[in-house]
Amino acid sequence: MSNLKAGIIGCGQMGRNHAVAYQTLTGVDLVAAHDHDDRSADRFCADFDIKPATLPELLELVDIVSICTWPSSHSVLTLEALSAGTHVLCEKPPAANAEEATKMLEMAEEQGLVLTYGLLYRHAFRGILDVVADVGRPYKITAKWLRRFGFPKWSPTGYRESSGGALTDLGVHMIDLALYLVGCPEPELVHAAAWNHRAQEFSGELGLADRIADPSYPDHANDSAFVLMQLDNGCTAMVEVAYSTDMTEDEHVSVEIQGSHGTLVLPVPTTQAVFSPGLLPKFHRSDERASSSAVIQCRPRLVREAVHDQLANFRDVVLGVQSPVITASEAVTVQRILDLAACSARTGDPVTLKGNDEAGDLPCPKSPTTGVRA
Ligand SMILES: NC(=O)c1ccc[n+]([C@@H]2O[C@H](COP(=O)([O-])OP(=O)(O)OC[C@H]3O[C@@H](n4cnc5c(N)ncnc54)[C@H](O)[C@@H]3O)[C@@H](O)[C@H]2O)c1
Repeated sequence: MSNLKAGIIGCGQMGRNHAVAYQTLTGVDLVAAHDHDDRSADRFCADFDIKPATLPELLELVDIVSICTWPSSHSVLTLEALSAGTHVLCEKPPAANAEEATKMLEMAEEQGLVLTYGLLYRHAFRGILDVVADVGRPYKITAKWLRRFGFPKWSPTGYRESSGGALTDLGVHMIDLALYLVGCPEPELVHAAAWNHRAQEFSGELGLADRIADPSYPDHANDSAFVLMQLDNGCTAMVEVAYSTDMTEDEHVSVEIQGSHGTLVLPVPTTQAVFSPGLLPKFHRSDERASSSAVIQCRPRLVREAVHDQLANFRDVVLGVQSPVITASEAVTVQRILDLAACSARTGDPVTLKGNDEAGDLPCPKSPTTGVRA
């Protein structure tokens, strides 16, 4: 069988991570890339020795594509790639809202094509799900990604347009990871708060002074968010994310799961952790046989390993030899929670989903994913 031909749309930081991983995968040839900025595409293609292409040319050339552009274009590019008959791995967040994510899922189903997402932390943890299972029946999970001062500056449009704020940018990973580790339940209630205190305080340093003065600004960005979810398997999930908050460490990323047999504390590998390997999950058992903490000899995969595993899974799902680690339908659930969290943060009220399945019944069904309380 001939190798799958792969392409990349979006020649930035994440596009580079995908390109490196594709070039190490067997059974796949990375052949072309596209960016709406020709100079970025040319530089990128020279570095990886591949062909720069327009979008139609790229979709004509390839069997599988990674969409690594800013979140606002995920839906339109995914729909275009799927309608051209190309299997898609789209970076996180899935879309701008659950309505878009649902259309993407429906198009993939109609076309009989693979659609999966860059919800990377599943791949970091999928090898140690047996350790996670040792907690027994989970009743609480807390996932945190907090930074003392870590606003993303990695793109020309930076904090507001491209990252979508801490809730979307960091929260999508922590919400997805929390759900994944406790068995992918559905939410029954979502209650959230979101703030932009630190962005206001440091607007000069962040080059945000003009944007902060824009009256629509609070609707579009947040620098910290706290989300409480009641899940339909009886577990309560709490997610805390911040680009900037008062803390002694530079960054804190962790997951803690309480279950019927004990508590598991997992450090999460972040981009920084690529350079400090050797993270070990700590397992505290609450039973008498092992009352003191014990270190389990396993570790989550590092970020670069997780990107590789994610693309290997994408290849194998396209080839029909593996199931997807992230289904498009699970991604719709995560996107829906982001929408509901933004809605709850804006109104100050929890959103209950029990018996309320129609998005149209919800208080602010089409809210942007970055709401801050008015
Ligand atoms: N999974 C992860 O851990 C992770 C980490 C970082 C970023 N991301 C996601 O990856 C995506 C890209 O982030 P990044 O850090 O690489 O950003 P980036 O700014 O470095 O790169 C994005 C590139 O996409 C191009 N682009 C934007 N819109 C386009 C369009 N409509 N058509 C063609 N090209 C377009 C830009 O010109 C730019 O070169 C975002 O969705 C982000 O949330 C995921």
